[in-house]
Amino acid sequence: MSLSSNHLLGLRGVPRSDIELILETAATFKQVLDRPIKKVPTLQGKTVVNLFYEPSTRTRISFELAEKRLSADAVNFSVSGSSVGKGETFRDTVRNIEAMKVDMIVVRHASAGVPLYLTRVAKSRVINAGDGTHEHPTQALLDIFSIKEKLGRVEGLNVCIVGDIAHSRVAFSNVYGLQAMGANVSVCGPSTMIPRGIERTGVKVYHDIDRAIAENDVLNVLRIQLERHARGYFPNVREYHRYFGLTEERIEKNNPNVLILHPGPINRGVEMTSGVADGDYQIILQQVANGVAVRMAILYLLGTRKENEQ
Ligand code: CP
Repeated sequence: MSLSSNHLLGLRGVPRSDIELILETAATFKQVLDRPIKKVPTLQGKTVVNLFYEPSTRTRISFELAEKRLSADAVNFSVSGSSVGKGETFRDTVRNIEAMKVDMIVVRHASAGVPLYLTRVAKSRVINAGDGTHEHPTQALLDIFSIKEKLGRVEGLNVCIVGDIAHSRVAFSNVYGLQAMGANVSVCGPSTMIPRGIERTGVKVYHDIDRAIAENDVLNVLRIQLERHARGYFPNVREYHRYFGLTEERIEKNNPNVLILHPGPINRGVEMTSGVADGDYQIILQQVANGVAVRMAILYLLGTRKENEQ
């Protein structure tokens, strides 16, 4: 079994069979991570460059650990301290890095479409680690893995993505991935943060968080992306929290069985209270732990995929 593509640029149009293969492979790697020696020789001799043009804690460390657990050589590139500051173009930077015999590139960039561009200027396998407000496919895959692990299935579940949908790359990757896996996907947030016409993708829209909590099995709560707001999309964060923030009282009143996810980083007291962020409804740190296994699966499946394999 192999993936249908040489690269992972997003989840739009990715077949269910690819997602299932990644989830099954990740489950196997998760067992490796529970062993005293958390390492396999699967990608020995392969070199992976983590090309991060934007800040990251979880994704970057998770990829680096996944590469090391697979025995690949992992190299980290940060834009600060690089020759980008001397005016070198993105294309020249990539071509110079590739000249040093690289097999795979993991890329995070503030501009949507950079991973796709990379596939045109580089020969390496490319994995999108988040591009602008476009997609963050590995985050969505680890979210889906974590839901399946906790609830035993994804098919038929009601899953609501809450918050700043319009500025989120996690939101659309989740919509595509969850729909491919047979979930009923909805979004909830202020109308200024819901992209117009999103209903055309088969997504239900809520503007009432209490209803969203009551009618869904899972809430995937997104960070308010203040750094991406060109203008105010709500009066202030206190007001946002009042109308859309998750509190223990709200959950207890509407649906104490709801499962809460958050991709991180959390704005405590904005998207959710600390009581929710650290409480029994959530699996936020399990998501982070699962991220390593899911990224190992993707690196393995792409790194061992033969050219022109169908
Ligand atoms: N979830 C996520 O992408 O977090 P980082 O920005 O810390 O990588």
